[in-house]
Amino acid sequence: MSGIKLKLSKEGWRIVEEARINKGWTCQDPRWVIGAYSSLSNLKRFRAETSIGREDFIKFCEAVEVFWRDVADFNSNPRLFCLEPIKYGRGVPDFSKFHGRTTELHNLEKWAVNDYCRFIAILGMGGIGKTAVAVKLVEKIRFRFDYVIWYSLRSAPLLKEVLTNIFEFLRSRQQSDLSQNNSDDISKFMKFLHSHRCLVIFDNSEAILRSGDYAGAYQDSYQSYGDLFTRVGEEQHQSCLVLTGHDQHREFDLLKVKNSGTVRACRLEGLKEEAREFFIERSLSDKASWEMLITIYRGNPLFLKIVASHIEESFGGQVSLFLKRRTLVTGSIEMFIGQQLDRLSELEKNIMYRLARENKPVSYYQLQEFLPAARLEQLSPVCESLVSRRSLIEKCAEPLGSFTLPPVIMEYIRNFDIDDLV
Ligand SMILES: Nc1ncnc2c1ncn2[C@@H]1O[C@H](COP(=O)(O)OP(=O)(O)OP(=O)(O)O)[C@@H](O)[C@H]1O
Ligand SMILES: [Mg+2]
Repeated sequence: MSGIKLKLSKEGWRIVEEARINKGWTCQDPRWVIGAYSSLSNLKRFRAETSIGREDFIKFCEAVEVFWRDVADFNSNPRLFCLEPIKYGRGVPDFSKFHGRTTELHNLEKWAVNDYCRFIAILGMGGIGKTAVAVKLVEKIRFRFDYVIWYSLRSAPLLKEVLTNIFEFLRSRQQSDLSQNNSDDISKFMKFLHSHRCLVIFDNSEAILRSGDYAGAYQDSYQSYGDLFTRVGEEQHQSCLVLTGHDQHREFDLLKVKNSGTVRACRLEGLKEEAREFFIERSLSDKASWEMLITIYRGNPLFLKIVASHIEESFGGQVSLFLKRRTLVTGSIEMFIGQQLDRLSELEKNIMYRLARENKPVSYYQLQEFLPAARLEQLSPVCESLVSRRSLIEKCAEPLGSFTLPPVIMEYIRNFDIDDLV
């Protein structure tokens, strides 16, 4: 197995030496070897600035309480790459201004690195920050992997095309074990995930799912993705596939249950306090109203960024003036919500419309009265999916078991005629 190797940089060697002396250890101290669960010969190689296996390297550093990334010589590692430039639908986000998500990133790092999860889904509504979090995760953990492959599925490529591109790229990197063999593409890819520790990110995976289907079903000709995901979740290998998307794919729940521990999902909720940073960046005033702004837009970073810039440009930065005008759906928020609603099934659209029309919490039973063609047992999973998968409707505490819309979506739908929606 050809894993990544790391060696100490010149400066790194000095830092490690200082840490060792501080601990009062000798150069070949048995506590160092035991603490790193490694061998004396490896320790000698480590100290001689010779490349050793990544995991051993990290453990030798951890044993003397040094952060391995501070001391590794990354210039000598030619095998890390992104398959294609990271693609974003709305241009490249400015990640130097990334706020919060500490817990989510901590969990994701632990799942991918320590727990050897094979399959992780990062889920949440559009604009909530899935791509941003995935990029931050890659930045944090990429050196733990032999290969990092990033692929955006936004243009809905067929799996065959994706795998062919990946294979071609890897071949161009002298990955000879991919060269000639007769197995099918998915099996070939699985073999690669087995023999190398890869971090594979498939971003925007909702693009391959069928619009109008709340059950996470694939579009025609895209079922092979389901076969790949099932094998990634179920077979033994040393890689980690991270999928980002609005919706959970059909097989994911079952995979989670059958492979508890190695298949996990992280659902992103809105930002909280840290969203204030967007307003500080735009020098908005009326701090007392910031909380309300975060609540109205449910902490969605995309919405908050758009609205903060709108308040700066059109209201001289005064949040209270903007709130007084009572128009929440501004600029590209409208287009963005439109795209989300376009993906809904007829029944989902009908439910949303009814909730908007009532403008107060509505129970299943009331919904059924409004939509007599839908059976109660049909309404229940669709409402649950609108809450937990799509984050487009919300459960109310009072009365228990009732639903309503977040303010921005309520306003969007109320601005339209029913014919535009259903
Ligand atoms: N934690 C964050 N801190 C600062 N900005 C953020 C954060 N999360 C997201 N953003 C910004 O919000 C915008 C939307 O984020 P992103 O593209 O990651 O969302 P998404 O969930 O991937 O959306 P989509 O479903 O449309 O792909 C981007 O401009 C991004 O820079
Ligand atoms: Mg995205």
